[in-house]
This record gives sequence, structure tokens and C-alpha cells, in this order.
Amino acid sequence: MENEYQPIEFKFNKDLDGLTIKMLEEHFKLYQGYVKKSNEIQEKIRVADKSEANGVFSYIGELKRQETFAVNGMKLHEVYFGHLGPATDSAGSPQASRGQVGVPHGDLVKMIEKDFESLDKWKEDMIATGISARGWAVLCFDFKDNKLHNYGSDAHNVGAVWGAIPLIVLDVYEHAYFMDYGVNRKNYIDSFFKNLDWDYANKIAHHYELQKRHHK
Ligand SMILES: [Fe+2]
Repeated sequence: MENEYQPIEFKFNKDLDGLTIKMLEEHFKLYQGYVKKSNEIQEKIRVADKSEANGVFSYIGELKRQETFAVNGMKLHEVYFGHLGPATDSAGSPQASRGQVGVPHGDLVKMIEKDFESLDKWKEDMIATGISARGWAVLCFDFKDNKLHNYGSDAHNVGAVWGAIPLIVLDVYEHAYFMDYGVNRKNYIDSFFKNLDWDYANKIAHHYELQKRHHK
């Protein structure tokens, strides 16, 4: 089908700091599944019999329900894998253009400091969100108040806030860390921050010119 979603590339060829490539590879397969199912569901919606729609059960109703799960699963994982780094080239060396991974910097940090008082207070809130959520902790810019929020989500399609742009996306599903960390989610979250490419998050903010909208 024309215009169908295409998966992003897997960009790692060795372990990251605290995240094994084996775990990342397995996790990436789940992401690829969301892309595939997003395309499949949307094609099935196109040809489904809309006249049978029913609030208790209908095929079109289930397609609509699972579409939000698959599409959100795809989008959230694209930011997650997008801002884990550094990516490596074919020789296993970090790609030069990716900056200093794990070191907070840029306009996004200034925005965080304004909305959360300090970077440390933001991180404390983000970690608490990640420990208590069952799916995701997401730093979003919300167009409702033009401020940043850490939103928690119990599943791809539960807890999403419309009109908010995800900038930093922490996957806390067990599949994201159990292979390396067992039940120790906190240590996984620490590794997530060590591998966070702030350049990537800043690029999302700049793409939407969020620094200009901030507090407007
Ligand atoms: Fe995941």
C-alpha cells in the first residue's frame, strides 16, 4: 500500500552502557511488530463493513481499539530507540555527529529548569513516573498550557494526552529491561539516562519550535 508506515532502522552493533544489544534487538522486534500491525489494521479498517459497528462488540470496533495500541506503540518506540545512543557505525565506533550522550544540554534543559525548578527535580519526577507507570513515562510539551509535563501511561493507548508532543520517552514495560535487570527497574532507568541522546530530544523540540511557544 502507498503511504504505509515504514520502520526505522536498528542502529546499534554493540552493547550500550548497561543495555545489551541482545535485549535491544529483541525489543526492536516488538517495535517492528507494531509498525506491521499498524499497517495491517489500517488496511483492514479501510475495507471493513462500517455498518456493523456496535458499542458492545463489532469487528470495526475492535480494529479501531487496536489501532490506537499499535500506532502509539510504533510512535513511542520510535522516539525511544531514536534517542538511545550513541549509534555505532559498521566498524563499531560511535557516530561522530551524535554529540555527548547522557549529558543534558540545549534548549530543552532550559525549558525543563523553568517548568520543574531544576533538572534534578524533573529527573526525580520522571523516575517516579517510570517506577509507578506500567508502560511509559513520557516528557511531553503540552500545547494546552505550552509547558512540559511528565505523563505516565499504563499501556500504549492508556494515558496518552492528545495535543502533547513526546520529547523523552522511557519504556518501562518489563520487556524493556527484564532480560538485563530482572525486577530491578530503577537500575534500568539509570542506564536509560546514561544512554539518552539529548541532541535527539532537542531536535524534536526545535522541529516544533517549542522554545518559541514555551509559556506563551
Ligand atoms: Fe517497548
